[in-house]
Amino acid sequence: MGVEVRVEGLTKSFGSQLIWGDVSLTLPAGEICVMLGPSGTGKSVFLKTLIGLLKPDKGHVYIEGTDIATCSERELYDVRRLFGVLFQDGAMFGSMNLYDNVAFPLREHTKKSESDIRSIVMEKMEMVGLVGAEKKLPGEISGGMRKRAGLARALVLDPQILLVDEPDSGLDPVRTSFLNQVMIDLNEAFSPTFLIVTHDVNTARTVPDNIGMLYHRHLAMFGPREMLLSSEEPVVRQFLNAQMVGPIGMSEEKDADELAAEAGQELPPLPPIPIQQLPSSGMLRPTQREPGAWCREHGITPPPGSFATATVGAR
Ligand SMILES: Nc1ncnc2c1ncn2[C@@H]1O[C@H](COP(=O)(O)OP(=O)(O)OP(=O)(O)O)[C@@H](O)[C@H]1O
Ligand SMILES: [Mg+2]
Repeated sequence: MGVEVRVEGLTKSFGSQLIWGDVSLTLPAGEICVMLGPSGTGKSVFLKTLIGLLKPDKGHVYIEGTDIATCSERELYDVRRLFGVLFQDGAMFGSMNLYDNVAFPLREHTKKSESDIRSIVMEKMEMVGLVGAEKKLPGEISGGMRKRAGLARALVLDPQILLVDEPDSGLDPVRTSFLNQVMIDLNEAFSPTFLIVTHDVNTARTVPDNIGMLYHRHLAMFGPREMLLSSEEPVVRQFLNAQMVGPIGMSEEKDADELAAEAGQELPPLPPIPIQQLPSSGMLRPTQREPGAWCREHGITPPPGSFATATVGAR
């Protein structure tokens, strides 16, 4: 089972530039969370702060009783072993073939024999659909294959927490769906806690248990998927529905003139909340809830047509 990540009052700046302030949220153990936000709002900085690669100015990140923000290097080294990370750029070693790239964390962090390493590497390569490409160099394969190789590498130490930065950037819709399915199936099988950063609205609407949104140097909202998808909060609503009308503009925030020009424009109604994507087994994941459960519990009427195709097996 994955572990909980509890973030309290986290603040990060570079010099005088505040990136985000006072961020508090909990990634519940074994659940899938997505973090959204316009480009440059500090999503990648947030991931790097969670694993202690960047030090926050203030606040805490508690993982199994250790505060990443203040612990010693030795403790950080131990806690980091709980994490698997897919960085935004893949961070592959260009001169190593995919096999050696994926094997790298095992050779660095364990004393496993080469034959044990081989069986782990091949198992993860198979999970992400890359068997047969082991000898290729990162420069010789497509962007989508590099992302999948990066995911395989993030998995070799059987992480309890998986941080995945834009797994779908530059991927076509079919490969994005494939990669989403791989992550959902992984979560069903091993229950790691997931935090996925994405710009893909469809992924955000259908994959996670919880959604967060960074905007304008703070966490605009974080909560269950159905809460954000039924929210009328302007920033959340605009982003999750990919609309042009709303407070977010091309340069993050619209200016007063732009907003005045929009005054009185009617927002389209909220679209139906889609059913959450299921694992390949067709069963609910251990932490996945029945469609509409959150709305029912909170007395929220979801937009008409929500959960229309809900035919799920119970676990
Ligand atoms: N090491 C660093 N030193 C100084 N500034 C940095 C550093 N890393 C990031 N920044 C700044 O922090 C801000 C947030 O960057 P970040 O990469 O986290 O954005 P993002 O939300 O991931 O954007 P995108 O969606 O384009 O990936 C940017 O203004 C960036 O220039
Ligand atoms: Mg980023």
